Amino acid sequence: MVVRAIIAKVRDGGGLDPDQARWFGEALTGAAISDAQAGAFAMAVRLKGLDGPARVALTEGMRDSGDVLTWDLPGPVLDKHSTGGVGDPVSLLLAPALAACGAFVPMISGRGLGHTGGTLDKLEAIPGYICEIGPARLDHVVRDVGCAIVGATGRVAPSDKRLYAIRDVTASVDSIDLITASILSKKLAAGLDGLVLDVKTGSGAFMARMEDARALAKALVEVANGAGCQSSALITDMSQPLAQAAGNAVEIRAVMEALTDPKAQARLREVAVALGGVVLAGGGLAKDARTGGKMIEAAITSGRAVEVFARMVHAMGGPADFAESWQHVLPEATVLREVSLGKSGYIKAVDTRSLGEAVVHLGGGRLRDGDRIDPAVGISGIARIGDRVSAKTPVAMVHASDEARAERAVAAVRAAFRLGAKAVTPPGLVHAQVTP
Ligand code: URA
Repeated sequence: MVVRAIIAKVRDGGGLDPDQARWFGEALTGAAISDAQAGAFAMAVRLKGLDGPARVALTEGMRDSGDVLTWDLPGPVLDKHSTGGVGDPVSLLLAPALAACGAFVPMISGRGLGHTGGTLDKLEAIPGYICEIGPARLDHVVRDVGCAIVGATGRVAPSDKRLYAIRDVTASVDSIDLITASILSKKLAAGLDGLVLDVKTGSGAFMARMEDARALAKALVEVANGAGCQSSALITDMSQPLAQAAGNAVEIRAVMEALTDPKAQARLREVAVALGGVVLAGGGLAKDARTGGKMIEAAITSGRAVEVFARMVHAMGGPADFAESWQHVLPEATVLREVSLGKSGYIKAVDTRSLGEAVVHLGGGRLRDGDRIDPAVGISGIARIGDRVSAKTPVAMVHASDEARAERAVAAVRAAFRLGAKAVTPPGLVHAQVTP
């Protein structure tokens, strides 16, 4: 293959033959393609786009650039991927609930990106939890417990690792073709039978506008199915944090509340039920999404999901008794500050991205590559759109490591809430479903 000719073809709007796209995706790991050529390719795709078959082939090539897991298990291998949000720990609820329903879930997850939180950073708030494990241990935990939430090893889709870094410095991240290939090359390398995609929209999402979220959901569903993985997507609300907490230890607490208290964190449970229903149906464990949703609900209310979660935590290095000890072993911040708005009204909007950024500035996310996360900091008790508040009603609690950071976070949180005089209907949670 002549790399220059491939780049020129995309640049001139001629697209790519699937063979060329597959070769390029796989060859991105090696010396056949220089950094300059990978950058030019990314920009040509960003500007001119690819057609459906080329998207699928590029994704398959990138998937096959590293290890692709294979499984021999007595149930379907299922997973969920979210495009990322604030206060969104659905994976931590859903993976054990799916396992409790008979699925196997090797969930390869990521760290915080920009203003959004990362599943691995949250799990590492649990003392002893180690996200980086080798393939043999992953196989053992998935087989034994039913689910394992882990980081990607360097051998999963190395082409994406290289291309992502190049896109980051060449202003070519925001391409639906490249985002789709990037997300799915990693997910499909886990050897899945079925996948549900949670595409977020609203003020805390990367795709804040509904039309962009729909286009991404459509591309993800078409490519995943084109590559042989049964998939559907839900477009879900991120116009406010999903859980009433954003941060790391505070979100683990929200998950444990959702798994153990039927009255707590209702929105978080509702999204887990909707996504779980879809993927259980797609994976053949439920006759339809509604039945699947009921199975997820029962797995949570019966206590089976929390039991699986605690077994996974222990298998990954955490405490043996996490289901009982979680209220005592999670790290606590030294400075706690309640936030109220100083006026009364109905909460009509929340600048969710600003809340996510406030968490990052508290030390709960990274401002620079390699920054250490403070697992204890964050925001809890976050009020919801539609809540009626008085001047003194708390709308959030800031958890900080010192007074100065607490002060800045309190100001950011206060500025993130918009009040109105009239009653407000809270936004729905699932806006749309995208099927193949
Ligand atoms: N997440 C990814 O893994 N890749 C992208 O390109 C964007 C979000």
